[in-house]
Amino acid sequence: MYFSTLVLASLAIICLSAPSVSADQQPIGASEPNTISSSWTKELISLHRHLITTESISGNEYDVGKWLSKYLKDDDWTIETQKVNHDSSRLNILAYPGKVRNPDLLISSHIDTVPPFYPYKIYSNDSETIISGRGSVDAKASVAAQIIATKKLLAEKKLKKDDVALLYVVGEEVHGDGMRAANALELTPKTIIFGEPTEGKLATGHKGMLGFTINAFGKAAHSGYPWLGRSANEVLVKSLSALMQLGLELPKSDKYGSTTINLGKIEGGVAGNVVAQNATAQIAIRIAAGTPDDIGKRVVEVIKEATEEFKLPGHEDEEMFEIVFAGKGYGPVDIDHDVEGFGTITVNYGTDIPNLEKLDGQKRYLYGPGSILVAHSDHEAITLTDLKTAVKDYEKLILHSFV
Ligand SMILES: *[C@@H]1O[C@H](CO)[C@@H](O)[C@H](O)[C@H]1NC(C)=O
Ligand SMILES: *[C@@H]1O[C@H](CO)[C@@H](O)[C@H](O)[C@H]1NC(C)=O
Repeated sequence: MYFSTLVLASLAIICLSAPSVSADQQPIGASEPNTISSSWTKELISLHRHLITTESISGNEYDVGKWLSKYLKDDDWTIETQKVNHDSSRLNILAYPGKVRNPDLLISSHIDTVPPFYPYKIYSNDSETIISGRGSVDAKASVAAQIIATKKLLAEKKLKKDDVALLYVVGEEVHGDGMRAANALELTPKTIIFGEPTEGKLATGHKGMLGFTINAFGKAAHSGYPWLGRSANEVLVKSLSALMQLGLELPKSDKYGSTTINLGKIEGGVAGNVVAQNATAQIAIRIAAGTPDDIGKRVVEVIKEATEEFKLPGHEDEEMFEIVFAGKGYGPVDIDHDVEGFGTITVNYGTDIPNLEKLDGQKRYLYGPGSILVAHSDHEAITLTDLKTAVKDYEKLILHSFV
């Protein structure tokens, strides 16, 4: 999950133990308990623990990828690694249990985490076993539950080896370079199940995203003689004020709410008694409606307008700012959610979904255990109950994709 905030589609507490299963979904129906055996639970905890204890902050995913590859290889899976940005320390992992490299079902998530690293802990209170540590939710809970669900269905012969592949990518928490690289793998699955924390619900969609940096250019001078210079800080502050104003009029939608602007990082100047030569700000816009193209154009317009007043006589052509967009951005992403027995949710964070080219008719689902609200925090944690429920839920999603 890239940047964390969310809109809960509903605050209703869903009953995790008894999702309603419609009559036409017999194979996963009533006769089965909605939990997993103690031996699968043991393997789930162990896999989740190994993934968390192996630190994998974006850019440093090599060790966790290596460990995961070996774990699957030991179980006779075929592993293909893909270098991202020609960097042999940054590897996407494609793994398949049978002979088919490009089956109809692809299950995917990411193996990088945000910084900083927090160590693994497992403990119990009166009612729950709780597992904490960086990545315990985002997204190592998804990765572990996806793998256990797949292995379990294979062991129970409910899923054929040639029907599934797993794709675990690097770099989701930064710019999605891992998933963008994965387009070159030329996979053409009919269904993709993505894993990110959705509180055990099926996501119906997420907001779009446009990220950029504003560099404001000033002219240094003694602070006692500010007219001899131009303050990059003032140029930037005016620009940001204009952006906040723009934020109020950007498009809304019923499904995703408001488009929001986050002034995430601001830096400028060198000292109190110097007119600032440079100032910079990093911005993320979460798009509820409209296109990143149109919004990007508006951003440039309003900043241009707001900074006119800083033109220095005789230097009218001088650039006072530049805007560096972090890629093209993307509009709101609608996600399939036509599976019975799940609650639904709309999320405000970005995912790797828009980074993987969508094929005609392809189904894309987004589901994962754990809450976004703790995901990037120092108290990231998940209950064992939620982790186990996710295994059952992934089983349902996997079986649904062959209905
Ligand atoms: C135990 O932890 C869970 C998960 O954080 C929490 O929801 C629950 O209220 C806690 N129970 C007690 C008795 O502290
Ligand atoms: C600082 O500002 C000057 C012009 O005012 C510009 O030429 C230079 O590239 C800027 N430096 C940085 C690091 O942005």
